[in-house]
Formats: sequence, structure tokens, C-alpha cells
Amino acid sequence: MAAPMMRKGMSLLLFLERYSGLSGRSPVFYKFVRRCTTQASNSDTVETSEPEISSSGDNHDVPRPGVDLRRFSDIQEERRQEALRSVLVRHVGKATEDELAKFCSHFGEVKSSFTYGNQELYTLLEYKSKGSVHSLLNTAHFRSVLEVLPYKSRLLSFRSSSWMNSTSKKSSVGDMTAEQKFSILATKLCAAQSMEEQMQVLVRETQLSEGETRLRFLVCSLVEDAITGYFPGCIVHPFGSSVNGFGNKGCDLDMYLNLNVEEHKPKKRNSFPRMEYEVKTVPTERAATQNLLSTVGQSLGEFVPSCRHVQYILNARCPLVKFTHEASGIQCDLTSNNSIALKSSELLNLYSRIDPRVPPLVYAVRHWARMHHITSNMPGGWITNFSLTALVIFFLQYTDKPVLPGIDALKELADKADTCVLEGNDCTLVSDLTKVPPSGNTDSIDDLLLEFFEFYSNFNFKSCGLNLRTGEIQEKKNFDALYIQNPFEQQLNLSKNVSMHHMEKFVQLAREAAWMAEQPDFLQPEVGPKGGVTPWGLVSILSGYNRRKRRLMDQKEFTPIFDSIKSGNPKRNSSHGNVGPRIHITEPVKFKSVLKSAKSKVDKRTKSGNRR
Ligand code: CTP
Ligand code: MG
Repeated sequence: MAAPMMRKGMSLLLFLERYSGLSGRSPVFYKFVRRCTTQASNSDTVETSEPEISSSGDNHDVPRPGVDLRRFSDIQEERRQEALRSVLVRHVGKATEDELAKFCSHFGEVKSSFTYGNQELYTLLEYKSKGSVHSLLNTAHFRSVLEVLPYKSRLLSFRSSSWMNSTSKKSSVGDMTAEQKFSILATKLCAAQSMEEQMQVLVRETQLSEGETRLRFLVCSLVEDAITGYFPGCIVHPFGSSVNGFGNKGCDLDMYLNLNVEEHKPKKRNSFPRMEYEVKTVPTERAATQNLLSTVGQSLGEFVPSCRHVQYILNARCPLVKFTHEASGIQCDLTSNNSIALKSSELLNLYSRIDPRVPPLVYAVRHWARMHHITSNMPGGWITNFSLTALVIFFLQYTDKPVLPGIDALKELADKADTCVLEGNDCTLVSDLTKVPPSGNTDSIDDLLLEFFEFYSNFNFKSCGLNLRTGEIQEKKNFDALYIQNPFEQQLNLSKNVSMHHMEKFVQLAREAAWMAEQPDFLQPEVGPKGGVTPWGLVSILSGYNRRKRRLMDQKEFTPIFDSIKSGNPKRNSSHGNVGPRIHITEPVKFKSVLKSAKSKVDKRTKSGNRR
């Protein structure tokens, strides 16, 4: 990316459009969510109501405003049931939302509906009861009885009586490029009053909306319908960023096909008489997974409406089938035999709710990494979002006063019902969030973000690995560029794919972000003659503003990064100067104090009425 030479007063929008360095990949389907109507009475809207917390002896009973305290499994199940009561309807021609709502209400009470789309409109419609869905489906027709595969699903199209009048599609506003999207986002971020507020705005603007989350569960439910014919009782669960609390608009949908084989294992080995299913045998469990996904992929591509561009990645460590679900615009990755991944998502989801500072931090780091191409949707040596999130969590566990407990501590808090062993691995986690004691750390989220950059600027990745179970650094046993012990399959490195090149880039960019925060004008926006605001705070970090200045510095101090870290482990409390090996960019960076003094300058300016 070409570094910007920033002309004073240049409009932020123009500046970011030209220099943000985004590649414009991943077309995002959702142009605008047109409407969200909740037609049920308030008592029906479970999603937004605060669950009741029953207090028990070991319950810390800490009020956590805005945090959903329900068990992860309960939330998942509720979403799943919601999806089973839902249909997805394409509007044909001029069919309006009102006409559709009126038509559908003949079959039962409509609980909620979301309409979205650009060139074509779709409505996700949830009934109050499953029976209404069946009644609606019973009235549906096939467009023609010839030349169609008569597959019946809950993906429908609606033609109103006026559809004949329409020949043209709705006008398209056209897909925005990634640069344009970032320009709009950056304008909103720059309008915030503090960096802390910028981080909150980032979450609000980029997280999965309620409608998008529902759509993801519905897509899983539609895929499940397609597979149920072969494997009655199967469940397709969403996992990864769709459910872990860190999902971005337009992120991929990771799906896990659970055939529920465990339920049908004999309770006792030699109990007779008993009935057994006649089955085909395969040489290995892996071969079974590959055959299954291959067949499922084929039927999705051949029969299931809206599932297109099926790709088979069956030789990967975790075999998968990729496809596009066109009606929702979601890119799907379907796996099987992957129950631990769902548990990892539960773990991340738990962390996202333990402390309200976690989501803004993770969103900021993920966004920063995406902007600077440290992450990518493509397979390769990039740092995955899963690894990035693990880096944030580890930092929050390891920091002077921990913000988050280690996984072992979460296991200690679990009760008997939480016991979970998957593929021979103990995956037990506490499910009752109220049992987790609050952190004594009171740092603000902007302080924590800058401490994160400082921490990893100085981290000895060459010989140290991260252990999220203990929240401690561990000695690295191999030459992997990044070693993060897998939380549940403890013998594995969850960042094994990361290349040295990308790791060096990560450290270099972390230093750059830290260096930016050190600049005296970091928190001070300037207003140009045309009214545009120059990037400040989080926007500087995301966009790489000031990069040219940074490059003017002595390059030798930065390369090769791993060699510049001499030896020994980083110590706790690194932001307070008690550091082990560290690389001096100019002077040792003490961001907390830098940020605090910058903040007090801004406060003074605000008080004297100078600030914007
Ligand atoms: N996963 C894992 N081990 C890895 C990589 C991924 O167990 N080495 C599991 C985790 O449960 C993770 C999920 O696969 O949450 C999805 O991984 P990924 O798609 O990389 O992360 P997401 O959080 O879904 O991020 P993105 O928005 O990039 O899809
Ligand atoms: Mg994912």
C-alpha cells in the first residue's frame, strides 16, 4: 500500500478512499436491511429481554448490564427453534412486504419479519408456531411441473397479483467497494468524542445484526432439511464467528453437521439381545467423513435451491465443502466430525460475555488485521481470526491484573452437568456466566488496545508459546512461527498455518500502531478547510495513517524482527517499564502514560472549547 502524504484539511472520505489499502475483496451482500418489524407482543420478543438470574450460593450475582447471561447451549437451541419456525421468501416483481405479510398471516401469527436485499428483496419470516409453516408450505406450488427438480423447502418465492406488471428488477445501488465502506465507517469513527467511543462505534457498525444472525441459523436449518432425508436426526450447527460473539457483517458461515451417532452407541458393550442398524463400513473415520461430505455437497449442488458453486476440500486436516447460499449471500463452509470446533466457539462466546471490554478489543484487532492484510479469507500463512482472537484473550489473561481467567479456571467453576468429553478431550467449561468473578482490572478499552500492541511488539515469539488454559507463557517445542496451544486438543498448535512472513508483518504492524499512539497529535483531529477531519485515534491505527513518517525511521531497527528479540521471556507488567527483551523503536514505548497525557491534553482543549 502506498503511504499517504496527508495534505492538511484533505477530506477524510477522499483520503481514506485513496489510501486505506483495502483490496475490495469479498462482495458483501447486505446493502441495507430494509426493515425489521416485530409484530409479536413485547412478551414474545425473547432475544432482547434480559434473562432472569437466579441467585445461588456460589453465584457472584454481579449485575452485567446488556450481557445475555443464558447458557450458550440454551441460546443456540432457542435460535434453532426460531429458525425451524421460519421461512425465507423471495419477492417476485413488485410484490411488497405488506402484501407478503398479509398473505402469510392467513396461516398463523407472524412473530417477526426481516426484509433485506438489493437487486432482489427477500423476507425472513418467523411464525409463532411450526404448524403455520406446514400450512403455508401446503399451499405452495411448483412454478412448472416440467424441467424442474421438485424439491420442497422453506425457501419460497412470492408473486403478488401485481407481479405481472413488473418486468424490470429493482434498481441496484451497486456494490460498494471495501474502500467506500471503510470511508463511511471512518467518518463515523472520527465523529466520536473519544477513542473509547470509537471502539464502541466500530462494534456497533460492523457486528452481525439480529437479522443476519437469524438468517445464518435459517440457512443451517435449510441445509439440515436437505440432509435429514439420508440421516434422520442430524443437526447442522453454526459455529465460528456466526455464534462466537465476534461476527462481522458478511463473515463466512461455518457449519458443523452432527449425525448424533453418539446417542446410538450401546450403553453397555455386551448387552444382549439388542437390535442394530445394518450399515456400510468404511476403512477409516476420515474416509467416512469424506464420503459423507462429498455426497452431501453433491446433493446441495444438484437439488437444493440457492446452493451454488460447491467446492470440495476433502483432503484438508478438517475436510469441508464450501458453497454459496445465494438467497442470503452467505459463503458457507460445511464440516462434519468437528464437535470440538463448536466447543471452541462456545469458549470464545463465553469470553465475549465475561467482560464487556472483550468485544470492542477483539473487533478493533480483527479490523486492524484485515485492513493491513494480516488476515485473509484465503487458506495460507495468514493469521486466522481464530488465532487473532486467541492473541487478544491471552493478552487479557496475562496482563498485570488479569481481565480474563484462564480456561482451567473456567473448568474449575463448572458443575457436573457441564462435564464434556469430546473425542477423548476434556472440554468442560462453566456454562453459568454468573459464577465467573469480575476482574479487578479497571483499564479502559483504549488503554488495553494500546497495551495489546505494545505487548506483542515485544513478545518473544521465537521461543515462547501461549497457553490459554493457564494464561501463562510456555516454552515453544517446535519452530512454528506462532505457537498457541489449542484450548481443547492440547497437543496441537492452533496457529500452525501461520508463516514467518505473516508473523513478522504482525509484529511490525503492532509496533507501527504503538508508534502512532505515541505521536502527540494521535488523539487530536484536525479540521481542514473543506470540513473534512483527518484520521485520529482508532482510525489512524486502522488506516495506517502516518505510515510514511514511520518509514522514514531507520529500517535496520525493524528487520529481521525475530532476530531483534534477543532472548528470555517477556515479563508481566510490560507497560510499566518492567520488560524483558524489547526492541526500541525510538524510546521504549509506554503507551498507557502516552495515551493518558494525550487524553489530558485533549480534555484541556475540550474544556477550553477548542476541540471541534
Ligand atoms: N478452528 C479451530 N482450529 C483452528 C482454526 C479454527 O478449532 N486452527 C475452529 C474454531 O472453533 C473457530 C472456527 O473453527 O472458531 C472457525 O474458524 P475461523 O473461520 O478461522 O474463525 P472465525 O472466528 O469464524 O472467523 P472468520 O470471521 O474469519 O470466519
Ligand atoms: Mg469463520
